[in-house]
Amino acid sequence: MTITNKLLKRQLKKAGIKLGTAPDKESFEKFLSLVENSYTENNDTRRMMEYSLDIFSQEMREAVDELEVAHKEVEKKDKLMFQQSRFAQMGEMISMIAHQWRQPLNFIGTTTAAIQFDIFFNKLDKDELLKHTDNIAKQSQYLSDTIDDFRNFFRNDTGVEDISYSELIDSVLNIIGESIESKGITIIKDLKSKNTFTTYSNELKHVIINIIKNAEDILLENKVQNPYIKITTYDEELHSILAISDNGGGISEDVMEKIFDPYFSTKTKKNGTGLGLYMSKIIVEEHCTGSLQVGNTKDGAEFKILLKYNAQI
Ligand SMILES: Nc1ncnc2c1ncn2[C@@H]1O[C@H](COP(=O)(O)OP(=O)(O)OP(=O)(O)O)[C@@H](O)[C@H]1O
Ligand SMILES: [Mg+2]
Repeated sequence: MTITNKLLKRQLKKAGIKLGTAPDKESFEKFLSLVENSYTENNDTRRMMEYSLDIFSQEMREAVDELEVAHKEVEKKDKLMFQQSRFAQMGEMISMIAHQWRQPLNFIGTTTAAIQFDIFFNKLDKDELLKHTDNIAKQSQYLSDTIDDFRNFFRNDTGVEDISYSELIDSVLNIIGESIESKGITIIKDLKSKNTFTTYSNELKHVIINIIKNAEDILLENKVQNPYIKITTYDEELHSILAISDNGGGISEDVMEKIFDPYFSTKTKKNGTGLGLYMSKIIVEEHCTGSLQVGNTKDGAEFKILLKYNAQI
């Protein structure tokens, strides 16, 4: 018989037992006591290991709990930041709505004056009056639509929706277009993308507004001659791209590294929250599973939103 177990071999040797020969009583008892000792040692080691394992798993559980708490806090902080940036945007948008309303209100005012004039000089013509009242109704509808757009825009419960880049841009420019153009900034549109996405359309509108507002800010701050904001969309093999560029001079390298950081802002005059691009990045990349990139053209900054072809959330 051959023995391969090293420990057993050692114990046999220590007890003075040779294989193939009958052991005497003393050697056999010595051997038994050696074997018993190793069993006891084994048990002790096992108990020690079980004990360490218990401590280890308890520590692991505590670490997981701590991680969960930290994760919840980050979520809470993000929610607060979301609200903070939304409130800042709301304030700005109210002044934009005022711009958007100016023209239809003027129109209603002058049409009413024209009707009063006709009444006063007894020139009231039924068809003419119908035309005027029809126009007033249309303008009132437009005013009411703008308010609806604005209210929908700030609702929190809006989910995913099928939408194209063109629809997103139209809806954004309906709210802020007039206000930007009233500052002498030309909006150039070159919309070639045909794709639609099933995505968080309302959140994407906020992103587009953030980017356009940033372009407006830099153009005004640098008092740029012939300022423009260019909005381009096109489809590539894997992505559809929405690019927004300006001729405001671009972003320097040291600023570029930080623009997506929370609370980073170079705007001292208007007291920027520095949350616009931070939130935009989270919306595009985490909520809409796309990508938000930045670069400089020869004239200024360019932001690109890339959404996957036929992206489904
Ligand atoms: N088109 C741009 N051209 C040059 N710099 C830009 C442009 N867009 C963003 N930046 C820079 O990125 C910074 C961060 O922008 P972000 O929108 O996050 O905050 P903010 O505009 O400063 O504040 P808020 O969005 O609250 O008004 C800006 O302060 C500005 O320095
Ligand atoms: Mg901003």
